[in-house]
Amino acid sequence: MSTYILGIESSCDDTSASVICEGKVLSNLIANQEIHKSFGGVVPELASRAHQQNIIPVVNQAISNANIDKNQLNAIAYTRGPGLLGSLLVGSSFSKSLSIGLNIPLIEVNHMQAHLLAHFIEDCGEKKPEFPFIGVTISGGHTQIVLVNDYFDMKIIGQTLDDAIGETFDKCGKMLGLPYPAGPHIDKKSKLGNFNKYIFTKPKVDGLNFSFSGLKTGFMRFLEKEKSFNKDFLTSELDNVCSSFQNTIVEILFEKVMLAIKQTGINRVVFGGGVSCNSGIINKFKANEKTKNYLSFFPKFEYTTDNAAMIAMVGYLKYITKDFSSLDKGAEARYKF
Ligand code: KG4
Ligand code: ZN
Repeated sequence: MSTYILGIESSCDDTSASVICEGKVLSNLIANQEIHKSFGGVVPELASRAHQQNIIPVVNQAISNANIDKNQLNAIAYTRGPGLLGSLLVGSSFSKSLSIGLNIPLIEVNHMQAHLLAHFIEDCGEKKPEFPFIGVTISGGHTQIVLVNDYFDMKIIGQTLDDAIGETFDKCGKMLGLPYPAGPHIDKKSKLGNFNKYIFTKPKVDGLNFSFSGLKTGFMRFLEKEKSFNKDFLTSELDNVCSSFQNTIVEILFEKVMLAIKQTGINRVVFGGGVSCNSGIINKFKANEKTKNYLSFFPKFEYTTDNAAMIAMVGYLKYITKDFSSLDKGAEARYKF
């Protein structure tokens, strides 16, 4: 008999629901919250209210698109954390109630693990990574290098000491007058510019950790200086600035991942999170595979950004081993693995 898992993701500003059947995605719906655009970033209180409005229609639609009845579901997997507490609470409370109503098991999922385990979704990529591998989770809230020995045997070996990589894209993009989230806009403009035109100082951080706050401040000073000489600087130079800035971030990430390969002796690198669809990152890591002797794995676009299919996938992996959760476990903003 087929196993159907409903996944529910509500850790930040996307309300998402998905039904998968043994690793195959039957539906994956995401309701984006447009409301945050006018504030230039996610407003937590508005995010939880929007989740409350979205969650029932999104879940209903996901079940209907999967062409099943809710009574056919075998379990409900939900994001327990990390994320915004108010947002997580909406998804976790809803999941608990539905699991009681349908009398089926509840499965808690760590959002960061899910970004990496998304690679095991049937149509995520051409080939599945073998264990062990180096996981690189790059998103608006996280920048981590993870040693992944098995599905649930993961250890963080490097992370940002301040801003996350996506946050750096978004904040620097805001300085350029680009809409939120600025990451995709910078990426698009980068393709039209000269990545060698401007040089930004790379932070010096020991080991596998990152720091992006110095780059952000340096970028702000650079713009202030250039605009003081020429007030139309950005009108003529926006593409070159985006390209040079993106290239700096790509170089920082590349150097750290090469160090992680050297330190661990593992040469499979698996990316996850919203920033892993960045064209500069993909091109750099793909272009150097042969000369540097590693393999890189990038998820299909729809599984890079926050989505419930990755939550349902982890739910399925846990369902197989009957790793169920209890109703007394709550949402956890700083949930660790
Ligand atoms: O994983 P995600 O959807 O949400 C979080 O958990 O944070 O990641 C969102 C982040 C945003 O910072 C957004 O600007 C960034 O991913 N992003 C990109 C690109 N597409 C999305 N950053 C750089 N280049 C892109 N193409
Ligand atoms: Zn995420």
